[in-house]
Amino acid sequence: MSEVPPSQDVVGDQPIVLEDVVDREALDDLCKSIHALFGIGVRVYASQGALLANVANDLELCRYVNEVPGSRVACGATVSAAKSVAPGDDGEVTHPCFTGLAYHIVSLVHEGRRVGRIVLGPYAPAGLREPPPSLAQADKRLDVVQASELAAKVPRVKQEALHRIAGHLKETLELIIFSSHKAWVTSKLHLYSVRESYRELQDKTTRLEQTLTRLKEVDRLKSNFLATMSHELRTPLTSIIGYSEMLAEGIAGELSSEQQEYVRTIHAKGEQLLRLIMGLLDLSKLESGTMSLRQAPAQIGPILKEVITTLAPVARKKEVELALDSDDVPCELAADAERLRQVFINLVDNAVKFTPKGGKVTVRARVTAGAAASDGGDEDDDESAGAALLAPLLKQVEVRVSDTGIGIPAAERAKVFEAFYQVDSSSTREYGGTGLGLSIVKRIVDAHGGQVSVEGNEPNGTVFVVNLPSAQTRRAALPSRVPPALA
Ligand SMILES: Nc1ncnc2c1ncn2[C@@H]1O[C@H](COP(=O)(O)OP(=O)(O)OP(=O)(O)O)[C@@H](O)[C@H]1O
Ligand SMILES: [Mg+2]
Repeated sequence: MSEVPPSQDVVGDQPIVLEDVVDREALDDLCKSIHALFGIGVRVYASQGALLANVANDLELCRYVNEVPGSRVACGATVSAAKSVAPGDDGEVTHPCFTGLAYHIVSLVHEGRRVGRIVLGPYAPAGLREPPPSLAQADKRLDVVQASELAAKVPRVKQEALHRIAGHLKETLELIIFSSHKAWVTSKLHLYSVRESYRELQDKTTRLEQTLTRLKEVDRLKSNFLATMSHELRTPLTSIIGYSEMLAEGIAGELSSEQQEYVRTIHAKGEQLLRLIMGLLDLSKLESGTMSLRQAPAQIGPILKEVITTLAPVARKKEVELALDSDDVPCELAADAERLRQVFINLVDNAVKFTPKGGKVTVRARVTAGAAASDGGDEDDDESAGAALLAPLLKQVEVRVSDTGIGIPAAERAKVFEAFYQVDSSSTREYGGTGLGLSIVKRIVDAHGGQVSVEGNEPNGTVFVVNLPSAQTRRAALPSRVPPALA
């Protein structure tokens, strides 16, 4: 936590304000017990004059003098003097009342500062015999004899006893003030630290938001750069591929076998570069959200058949068996068929590429209905396919591309969808490619509201699972994103 700036001192170097910190209930209880023990009234004032506790005696003498105007004024003056009289250097003073009674005043000290006062009284000093002349002077109408009788009923307290009582009370009260102040400071500090943490959190959130905005901008610039570069590279590359093809075909004259070989290498590498550039272009478009998906009603069956036809020669050349197992249950997708073809070309191409000679690649598609219809359903079970056909709510299409190849270690599976990530990234790696295929797959599937994941295949190999929601399901989930043609 940062240091407390001087202007925001948490508890301050200010004298404490008793009324803010002191536990009134504890104070009241203490004053009541003193009153019950010695019969003397107790008042506690804060240094600014606020009355914090008041356990007063209802003395007959006081009542009597308050009935007579002159002595009522004198009584008021005595009480206000007791509230303000300076207790002197030793912090204790006795203040006489015009009736002969007295008040004893003691300072309350906290951390070397006077923070309030205790006023004990009125009481009758032990030596009081008869009322002083000031009583008669207060008002001629006062009956001095009656006043003197009433004064005799007031508890008499010796000076030493009073001094002891006041001392004990002062010590106890100062202890209450100390612990109340400690609790108050602790709660203030806690509040301050909560506020401080909140402020720091707000600062961090603001900084994070700014960083996020900057990163988004950098990301946008990167995508723009990729898109422009890829586009600019594609044009000359198309010429290189076209002319090398023409040369290889002998259009510009017969080539020697060595020349033929060079030209074919130029052509093959040009094609490879073009695929990379097209991949980068797709990725940057998908990342920046500028790839427009022409979503229209589509079925998965024909798309998968086309993918198998396209890749059958590659599989045959590698002596890998390629099979399609589709339940052919119709399920309308809201999809860009060209992009979905790209998804499955990538997946099947990977499966064939990473499967050694004699292995098998299977593409299996099925329609999974709502939970009730698919209960107990087995993907090879014709009955379940029939049930799905009849189900009123066809939810999604699941396509599993499984191979019996080298497999992907469990710890690597989540990473293969990152751009340029390859499990074997060494320069001596056996398989070609740039590591863009799966990141494009994931983005296209995401854009169709679907999910793609990877699992292990038993006993060896990999299974890529693609789930695509039906047009109806997407309409229910995202009515605003479904193209008008499907609405
Ligand atoms: N069927 C699979 N079996 C084993 N490993 C796989 C399989 N599919 C993908 N991988 C691993 O995931 C990595 C990323 O795949 P991805 O398709 O993104 O890139 P690539 O095939 O290496 O290159 P590109 O597709 O860009 O030509 C691959 O390099 C490979 O390590
Ligand atoms: Mg690939």
